[in-house]
Amino acid sequence: MYGLLELETDRFTLRKIEDGDLETLHSYWSDEVVTEYMNATFKSIEETQQMVELLNILPEIGEGRRWAIVDKRSGSVLGTCGYHNMKAEHRRAEIGFELGREYWGRGIMQEVMNIVIPHCFEDLGLNRIEAFVTVGNYRSLKALEKLGFKQEGVLREYEFTQGNFRDQVVLAILRSDWGNQI
Ligand SMILES: CC(C)(COP(=O)(O)OP(=O)(O)OC[C@H]1O[C@@H](n2cnc3c(N)ncnc32)[C@H](O)[C@@H]1OP(=O)(O)O)[C@@H](O)C(=O)NCCC(=O)NCCS
Repeated sequence: MYGLLELETDRFTLRKIEDGDLETLHSYWSDEVVTEYMNATFKSIEETQQMVELLNILPEIGEGRRWAIVDKRSGSVLGTCGYHNMKAEHRRAEIGFELGREYWGRGIMQEVMNIVIPHCFEDLGLNRIEAFVTVGNYRSLKALEKLGFKQEGVLREYEFTQGNFRDQVVLAILRSDWGNQI
């Protein structure tokens, strides 16, 4: 089924977020360190549940998809990743991702994005994948630049998140950039 599309890398499976993942995801989405540069730090499991519901309807409304990142060996959910704000007429979408703090620095996002990006270009026919990163989120910038994303500029006070107007760095990778890396 379209809503259940899964992807796989050597170490990880990307699958639909399930009810059984809620507590684990809440532990990440309520962690102030993980969410420092994200839109919000959730206090209650209900907020996490509502977010999961929103994410799980993305495929149905044709705007994107968010997967749980599952470690094949342990079966643990390590975080989520996917694309949203897909604009079919412009063949572009935005990507997003986060990992539980204990999983940072192991190359997990590199491995996972190395399957999500070709999926976006080859299976979805996108031409541009963009990312908006809050100024100061060096780990995310580094991860994206290592994947071949290029910084295009800074949108000043673009978002009101975590109680402040915050600048966003715009990065993107084009289909032609990706092709040139192979
Ligand atoms: C953004 C985020 C996913 C990046 O995670 P990450 O683990 O640093 O990302 P990567 O997969 O690129 O891993 C690179 C790191 O793993 C290390 N690494 C270990 N094994 C590796 C491997 N096999 N391949 C590549 N890198 C490897 C690298 O040396 C690098 O570490 P360094 O930054 O100390 O040099 C993570 O910091 C996060 O969840 N942040 C909070 C949520 C967030 O801000 N999301 C983005 C919103 S725009």
